[in-house]
Amino acid sequence: MQFNSPKNLALFNAAVITAVVIVLLVVYNLIFANITPLAIVGLSLLIFLVAYFLIGTTLENFFYKKIKLIYKTIHSLKRPKGHKTSTIDVNQDNVLDRVNTEVREWAESQRQKIQDLEQSASYRREFLGNVSHELKTPIFNMQGYVLTLLDGGLEDPTINRKYLLKTEQSINRMIAIVNDLEAITKLESGELQPKMESFDILNLTREVIEFLEVKARQCKNIISIKGHPDRTIMVYADREKIRQVLTNLIDNGIKYSKRENGRTTVNFFDMEENILVEVSDDGIGIPEEAIPRLFERFYRTDKARSREQGGTGLGLAIVKHIIHSHDQTINVRSKQGIGTTFGFTLEKAKAAKI
Ligand SMILES: Nc1ncnc2c1ncn2[C@@H]1O[C@H](COP(=O)(O)OP(=O)(O)OP(=O)(O)O)[C@@H](O)[C@H]1O
Ligand SMILES: [Mg+2]
Repeated sequence: MQFNSPKNLALFNAAVITAVVIVLLVVYNLIFANITPLAIVGLSLLIFLVAYFLIGTTLENFFYKKIKLIYKTIHSLKRPKGHKTSTIDVNQDNVLDRVNTEVREWAESQRQKIQDLEQSASYRREFLGNVSHELKTPIFNMQGYVLTLLDGGLEDPTINRKYLLKTEQSINRMIAIVNDLEAITKLESGELQPKMESFDILNLTREVIEFLEVKARQCKNIISIKGHPDRTIMVYADREKIRQVLTNLIDNGIKYSKRENGRTTVNFFDMEENILVEVSDDGIGIPEEAIPRLFERFYRTDKARSREQGGTGLGLAIVKHIIHSHDQTINVRSKQGIGTTFGFTLEKAKAAKI
C-alpha cells in the first residue's frame, strides 16, 4: 500500500489499531471467556470506523491547511501576476507526489532564473567595459590633437589642418560606435522591426558591390557574384537591413584578405522555402576557438587590424540581430589561412526563381 494520500494513511492506521484491539479482545476472551464472537466483531468494526474517521479527518485537515498553503504559494510564485491560483484536492491520490513535483519544478526554475541573471549581469559588466574602452581611444586622440593645436600648433600651417582632420576622424569613429550601439539596442529591444517587401537580392548585391568597389580596388581585392549575374532572385525581407548585412560581410571579406588579389565571392543557393546567400573570401580565416564568440559585440580576432581598418567590432553583432529579426539563420565556416564563408538564409518571395 502506498501512503500518498491521507485516506490511505488513515485506512492503514485504523486497520493496525483494530488488529491490536482484536488481539487484545481475543486474549481477554481466552482468559475470562465472557465476550461473544459477535460482540468482538461489532466492537472491532466500531473501533475501526471511529479510528478511520478520526485519523482521516485530522490528517485531511492538516494536509488541507498546510500543503494547500505551500502549493498555493508556489503556484502564485510560478505563475505570472494576475493569473488565478488553482487549489489542491487533498482527497486526490498522489497528492504528496504532486506537491513534491511542483516544489522541484519551482526550485529548478528559480535556479535557472538566478543563473540567467548572473550571466546577464556579467555580460553587462563586460559590455560597459568594452564601450568605455572603445570610446577612450578616439577621446584621448582628440584631446592630444586639440592640446597640440592650443600649444601653438594652430599657428603652424604645416600641422594645423592635419591635426584638425585627425580630430575629425576621431569624431567620425565615435559617431560610428554610437550609431552602431544605438542600432543594436533598437534591434535587441524589438523596436526596429523589419519592413518586409519583395525585392531582387541580386540587384541589391550589385548595388553593395558598386558601393564597396573603391575600397576593394584600394585593397587590391576582387568582388564577384557567382553564376549568371543577370538572373533575378526575389526574396521577402527588409531591403535596407539586408543591404547592411551584405555591406558588412563583403566589407569584412575585403578587410580580412591575406594578400593582394584576394577574392570575395557572393553565391546564392535555392533551398526550397529559402534562399541561402553565401559570402566567401580567401583571406586570413578565423581561428576555430574564436568562431563561437564571433557574433558578440566588440569581439575581434585581430584587434589591431580591425581598428586600423576603422572597424568597431559591432558589425557582425548587428548582422546577427538583423537576420534573427527576420526569423532566419546565419552561420560561419572558416579555416585559418584558407578563407571564410558566412552564409545566411532569407525567405523566398512568392514565385522566386534561381
Ligand atoms: N571574413 C573574415 N575573415 C577573417 N576574420 C573575420 C572575417 N569577418 C570577421 N572577422 C573577424 O571578426 C571580427 C568581428 O567582425 P565585425 O564585422 O563584427 O567587426 P569589424 O569588421 O572589425 O568592425 P565593423 O564591422 O564594426 O566595422 C573582426 O574584427 C575579425 O577579427
Ligand atoms: Mg565588419
